[in-house]
Amino acid sequence: MADRKPIISGNWKMHNNHLEAIQLVQQLSYKLTKEDIKAVDITIHPPFTDIRSVQTVLEADKIPVGLGAQNCHWEEKGAFTGEIAPGMLSKLSVKFVIVGHSERRQLFGETDEMINNKVKAVLKAEMTPILACGETLEEREADEAVAKVSGQVKAGLAGVKADQVAEMVIAYEPIWAIGTGETASPEDAQQMCKTVRDTVRDLYNDATADSVRIQYGGSVKPANAPELMAQPDIDGALVGGACLDADDFHRVIAFRDAG
Ligand code: PGA
Repeated sequence: MADRKPIISGNWKMHNNHLEAIQLVQQLSYKLTKEDIKAVDITIHPPFTDIRSVQTVLEADKIPVGLGAQNCHWEEKGAFTGEIAPGMLSKLSVKFVIVGHSERRQLFGETDEMINNKVKAVLKAEMTPILACGETLEEREADEAVAKVSGQVKAGLAGVKADQVAEMVIAYEPIWAIGTGETASPEDAQQMCKTVRDTVRDLYNDATADSVRIQYGGSVKPANAPELMAQPDIDGALVGGACLDADDFHRVIAFRDAG
């Protein structure tokens, strides 16, 4: 099996003003050990208004956590009121951007085409996209999960080169498991993350498929992280609710210690 370092990402969603953000980052930094950092890549994705403050704390205290954003526009600049360009984020040392989160797709009407444009724009600005995909409960019950997710991966990666995909992260997040307390079983999560990897294999080649990191997301918490992370095609987690508490997020990061 390819040697992929797990990547655990905290998606803060619309939580924490900049003062609360500083506090949460400091609390997390006290908990992180050298072993954590060696074993796992960690990213946090605060709201845009927190990014400058979080960047300052991470850099001043040399905290080894990657700075991420939750979204961006695909254009470099222009008349797009309320939007944020990729270059504005990279200038603030943002290294990772979540693209195509189901809340963006469902609540803000983002299409596969927009998401593909964002993936390419994030790469162009020399950041790493975390491309999110996942099926609804209705799609799962109708046996359409595999087709839906592989379709989202194909559309999201259109026109992206193999060497770029190899360095990317793809997050499989079943919509019915997000924020609901319901988690996919480790077997189902593994099967769907394998689907994502097989889709990359079909589109590109073995080396690319074996290199891309695939996260599971959807009610990940300290109690279920070890079993999920033990699956061969799951290379980390995209964590929502549990990342808002430094202790819970750290226990997810330290999933190796649970057993
Ligand atoms: P959750 O959110 O962990 O609160 O389910 C995950 C996500 O939406 O990224």
